[in-house]
Amino acid sequence: MKPLHSIQITAVGAYAPPKVLTNTELSTIVDTSDEWIRSHTGIGERHIAEKEQTTSDLAMLAVEDLLARFGRSKDEIDGIVVATATSDYPGFPSTACLLAERLGTSGPALDVSAGCTGFIYALEVARAMILSNSMRNALVIGAEKLSSVINWKDRNTCVLFGDGAGCVLLEQDSSKQGLLDTLLKAEGAGSGALTIDPGQRCITMEGRAVYNFAVRSIGETILSLVQRNNLTIDDIDWIVPHQANKRIISACAKRYSLNEDAFYLNIEHYANTSAASIPLALAEMQKKGLLKEGQKLLFVGFGAGLTYGGSLLVWHQS
Ligand code: UT7
Repeated sequence: MKPLHSIQITAVGAYAPPKVLTNTELSTIVDTSDEWIRSHTGIGERHIAEKEQTTSDLAMLAVEDLLARFGRSKDEIDGIVVATATSDYPGFPSTACLLAERLGTSGPALDVSAGCTGFIYALEVARAMILSNSMRNALVIGAEKLSSVINWKDRNTCVLFGDGAGCVLLEQDSSKQGLLDTLLKAEGAGSGALTIDPGQRCITMEGRAVYNFAVRSIGETILSLVQRNNLTIDDIDWIVPHQANKRIISACAKRYSLNEDAFYLNIEHYANTSAASIPLALAEMQKKGLLKEGQKLLFVGFGAGLTYGGSLLVWHQS
């Protein structure tokens, strides 16, 4: 049997479309301002995909970045797990199957639907499938073309989101500890607070309700993961949160006495990219050289469902 904590992140990659939409440009489309968006969210700009670009295109470019950055070959990939709320087709084929076709893989390929918590859910699905020998290794991808489900007339939502993709390679190595623990939750009673309206294909949201849920769920997840692994918050080198609103992180840090500087934030340049936000941030941290051998990382997310959760892991340089 494979040791429970032997699944590692061994490579990361990311892609954001080159087209950037600034707050000032947005203020010519809806009644908003750079000052309001920055002060209420910390967002300065977002990346927007081309009309013909799909979620699987964004995901594929993130995978190509991973392969190039880490000198890996697509022939090594077995399974694919994609977290997305904006798959190319509302039904089938899944985004993961579209990628399996492009990469020429033959292992399991599936999509996971857990809103902005999707990457954390997908990571756990892939970890469990590797441990049970259903797949040898897995590309775990968060990819979203949220610009395709935005009501550009609704200032309450259109200023918040952006497009992008991030991914990691999960592999087994018994000689080291990798993913240590995962916490996954869902509060279905709140499902109406954040949806993609099926008729209009656009995001609807009760902003305040989601904000309050976010502050509570992030704080509880972090403390719970730390405590049940007999750690203290000072043992965590980086918290990589779902990037939805800088104010949510500040409020959470204040309420739960957490060091705000331990949270890595890049929301200013990407806005909220839903399931892509954590791997996008992680790939940026790797590129900047912020991740060091043996560091403890904590991913934490929340979103539609209402879902939330977190992963605790040890980072290893590849
Ligand atoms: O991935 C998870 C997805 N979602 C989230 O994480 C969102 C969680 N919620 C939030 O981040 C915040 O609730 C928002 C950023 C969405 C809103 O911030 P807020 O401080 O909760 O503002 P509010 O909704 O209470 O609105 C305050 C005012 C309202 O005007 P009145 O009624 O006070 O006159 C809004 O109409 O701000 C107005 N407003 C805007 N004004 C300028 C709302 N959106 C905008 C805008 N520009 N874009």
